[in-house]
Amino acid sequence: MSRELTAVLHNVGQGMRRARFGHSGAVLWLTGFSASGKSTLAMGLEELLLALGYACYSLDGDNVRHGLNADLGFSPADRTENIRRIGEVAALFAEAGLICITAFISPYRKDRAAARAAAAKTGFHEIHVAADLATCEARDPKGLYRKARAGALADFTGIDAPYEPPLSAELLIDSATYSIEDSLAMLLAYVTAQLPLANSTKELSR
Ligand code: ADX
Repeated sequence: MSRELTAVLHNVGQGMRRARFGHSGAVLWLTGFSASGKSTLAMGLEELLLALGYACYSLDGDNVRHGLNADLGFSPADRTENIRRIGEVAALFAEAGLICITAFISPYRKDRAAARAAAAKTGFHEIHVAADLATCEARDPKGLYRKARAGALADFTGIDAPYEPPLSAELLIDSATYSIEDSLAMLLAYVTAQLPLANSTKELSR
């Protein structure tokens, strides 16, 4: 494969994008078991942030696996490739100036570390959606834990595939104990403190 590539510079810098959107771009990386609440929190947070004036978009495992990652399964290698692609896409969203919220199990620490490295130019916030396995299994909204226990679904995270919890996440949401509303309030407080919203119209007119 020929690798004769030359980087092309943008005419638009991060400062101009910040002025346009009123906040820095960043990746908010949600990780946790299936049924821990990642997707619900990602979609809820997206709605709340957009209403406040943030530019943001949520990428969700079940959705992205229908399109960009339709060729990937759940072997360790496929999960690594899933997270590699999403890490790169999320970093591009952040470089474009948006807040990109991702909701993927992302079970391996090394893969989450690679996603963090991909977003080094902007910012990466690892958020552990930390409902324990027993709670997630009791919820089982898609019946997948039941199938996995019955031996009808192999390599299921928490049953016969590993989950490596974050050792130093920027934020931990105990989504077994707290309601969706309370968990969202904690997430929102974190984002508004870490990525404060400026008055974009005022900054643009300078
Ligand atoms: S990841 O491990 O590669 O990060 P991802 O978040 O994209 O997983 O997809 C997880 C979703 O796929 C789960 O919410 C569940 O609906 C579905 N799924 C199907 N098979 C499996 C499996 N073997 N392990 C985990 N999730 C699975």
